[in-house]
Amino acid sequence: MKGFALKQVSMCLVGLMLINSCSQPNHKGLGPTGEHGMVVTAHPDASRIGLTILQHGGNAMDAAVAVEFALAVCYPAAGNIAGGGFWVLRTSGERVYTLDYREKAPMAATKDMYLGPDGEVVQGLSTQTILASGVPGTVDGMVRAHEKFGSLPWRDVVQPAVDMARKGFPLTKAQAADLNSIRKILLERNSWNPVFVRDSAWKEGDLLIQPDLANTLERIRDSKRDGFYSGQTADYIIGQMQESGGLITYKDLQDYQSVWREPITGYYRDYRFYSMAPPSSGGVALKQLLGIISKTDIKSLGYNSVKTIHYMVEAEKRVYADRAEYLGDPSFVNVPVAQLTNAKYLSKRAADIKPNVATPSDSVRAGTAAMRENLETTHYSIADRWGNAVAATTTLNGGFGCRIVVKGGGFFLNNEMDDFSSKPGSPNIYGLIGNEANAIAPGKRMLSCMTPTLVTKNDKMFMVVGSPGGSTIITSVFQTILNVIDHGMTMQEAVSAKRFHHQWLPDLIQYEPEAIDSLTVTRLTAMGHHLKKIGKIGRVDAILFWPDGKMEGGADPRGDDTARGF
Ligand code: DON
Repeated sequence: MKGFALKQVSMCLVGLMLINSCSQPNHKGLGPTGEHGMVVTAHPDASRIGLTILQHGGNAMDAAVAVEFALAVCYPAAGNIAGGGFWVLRTSGERVYTLDYREKAPMAATKDMYLGPDGEVVQGLSTQTILASGVPGTVDGMVRAHEKFGSLPWRDVVQPAVDMARKGFPLTKAQAADLNSIRKILLERNSWNPVFVRDSAWKEGDLLIQPDLANTLERIRDSKRDGFYSGQTADYIIGQMQESGGLITYKDLQDYQSVWREPITGYYRDYRFYSMAPPSSGGVALKQLLGIISKTDIKSLGYNSVKTIHYMVEAEKRVYADRAEYLGDPSFVNVPVAQLTNAKYLSKRAADIKPNVATPSDSVRAGTAAMRENLETTHYSIADRWGNAVAATTTLNGGFGCRIVVKGGGFFLNNEMDDFSSKPGSPNIYGLIGNEANAIAPGKRMLSCMTPTLVTKNDKMFMVVGSPGGSTIITSVFQTILNVIDHGMTMQEAVSAKRFHHQWLPDLIQYEPEAIDSLTVTRLTAMGHHLKKIGKIGRVDAILFWPDGKMEGGADPRGDDTARGF
């Protein structure tokens, strides 16, 4: 990797001389563009830090590690050091790698740990208590990614997050409102006052200073993995487990390992895509969706027309039904990836879609579920001038995880265990159901929907894309790809475009206001579809590579997301 790094640094000096001032985001037509690099994240300060790393000679992977830690500071609702995620990355040598730093169930976890004596799921146990926390993967993932691909010293990519935690960063309006809204819960769930709580209400522009987190990040900066999984930070985590009745042990922490996996890859028209393999369902589901929809000429049916929505939704029902049945951690269950994504199988799945009538979900497969909201994950997309690109999605699961802050450590614990199927057929917070394949077992990874994805055309980078949104992640990525490839949108238009979503159960097309006009709603209803308007779906941050090599950032206007290019 050394030669690789040196070449990049020297090329960068040339690049630096060419730096333009960053173009400003414009959520209508075009996103900001850059010739040398692009960073799109959920928070302006994380995007700024990523851009600075690129401008100082770092590659996309350096910038991604810096962004991951920056988000843990400036976007505590989802950015994390005690959560997990997935990276899909492509190097300038045109090889694609995927990194799984998903959390694992602690060794003391049991299949029925969220069931009461009556055998029913105890509400809130897998989301709102310390029992919800899986063994964190983020720090191990970042160390591994940096060891393999980083070109700048580890210290240099962690330091910006340390500084921001120590000096503070200004809260956005939405963040101030979020922190005010969870104040009571934070006080109930923590035996002390974490920095996220103060006497008066937070307002936009207030500085959030996090000294405990700064100290933790310094330990990670100085001792890498050991700065988190052992020593002082581990003591704090285990102390919190003891105080709040959690399951994670020193051994769980020490044993945690992220994993390099083969990507899920396939073609959609002339484009090749690469996405995340199990334990995320994202790549398999995306490949199934694109495979099924490729039988339909979406382009000539038109953007969000009755027929387009019908065919997309029918594909979604079938794919989410398969997800519930077959997908789980491949170290524990045999996931039939090849069978589920093979062209013949997908043609068969497409063949029973009727052109004018909705297939009721219970004739696709039986069950019931309900969808809930207030969720947080975060995706960032980064590309550099050498052809490296990173699509990364990371999460605590719910907003601020289980809302327990590790005392002394200054960071939120995840509530990722809810992504397991607590009981066959019983919905999780996303209304997703599962069965044996995704049952809880010690050391197992819970099934994810995260879908960080790269798309290439003629072996050249074409798109970096991904989204938060629980069960809606897969369909948000799916729509964004079709918006560009079939509907000819710019990156910004494709990201801003209103979305809809079907996940088999409940049997509902959930849609953002304005995604579907009233006449289309009437026609879809007449075909047997059920529709429900909901708030926001997904928060896509993406990059499109134009034929002239320019990169266009698309930052989602649904949040504080920001694209910065140079
Ligand atoms: O891994 C998953 O699929 C979920 N834990 C993601 C959670 C999420 O996207 C919440 N976001 N808005």
